[in-house]
Amino acid sequence: MYDPYYISLVNDVKMPRLGLGVYQASGPDTQQAVKWAIEAGYRSIDTAAIYGNETEVGNALKESPISREELFITTKVWNSDQGYSTTLEAFERSLKKLQLTYLDLYLIHWPVANKYLDTWRALEKLYDEGKIKAIGVCNFQPHHLDSLINVADIIPMINQIELHPFLSQEDVRSYCKQRNIVVEAWSPLGRGKMLDNPQLKEIADRHKKSIAQIILRWDIQNDIVTIPKSVNQNRIIENIDIFDFSLSPEDMASINALNKNERIGDDPDNFHF
Ligand code: A2P
Repeated sequence: MYDPYYISLVNDVKMPRLGLGVYQASGPDTQQAVKWAIEAGYRSIDTAAIYGNETEVGNALKESPISREELFITTKVWNSDQGYSTTLEAFERSLKKLQLTYLDLYLIHWPVANKYLDTWRALEKLYDEGKIKAIGVCNFQPHHLDSLINVADIIPMINQIELHPFLSQEDVRSYCKQRNIVVEAWSPLGRGKMLDNPQLKEIADRHKKSIAQIILRWDIQNDIVTIPKSVNQNRIIENIDIFDFSLSPEDMASINALNKNERIGDDPDNFHF
């Protein structure tokens, strides 16, 4: 049966369909944002070693009244730490900063050539030891996934990619769907770039919702896990208030038609790691 709030990963781990992203959030802002998010009903927080705010995420989790099992915490191994033993060490550092005994999801941040296969072996080991509930990658194109799947014991459970209506990534989504890899959207709001789009505004007005809520709902109805970033309490509350309405097939089609393959972040095939 369809669960509106959680998606099942291939290993039956339940992942919240919506979480809080904390990219580019300073330490103090992050701690406050995570606290507000948990109060607003978020159970999933997405950080990364490179964001430099894992300690503050950990502080907020420690102060939260919500039990550890109800939370879903993601972090990522940074490019300069990739490789087998360096990833194992980076994982321990992240866990310590987050003040946790296990992670829900650990991701390879970028497909660093000549390194990501060794990095993946480290993630598989940590998963086998029960230190992580699920493992995955970010910014992997189908050809990166092909080369990883060729040698891996475990197929990634998640691929977190830049994804929003201007970059709908239908090719990567269809590749992942065929292999039971859940797609997760980073910068789902295009870092705010799309929030004055007239087509989205028309849909938003009709549903009495904001453009941000329309985009996030489009993610949910596409089975895309989404992690909008905000450090503003009103927007944190607004971004989770998307479970009381539905977009029609026509609405979904007009949002799909906005795609222009326009990236705001780095291109995984032309990135200087
Ligand atoms: P802020 O943190 O000040 O709320 P993305 O997740 O696509 O990277 O977008 C994040 C950007 O969008 C941030 O600049 C964030 O600013 C802003 N933002 C997040 N939620 C909303 C919202 N509901 N309405 C307007 N801007 C938002």
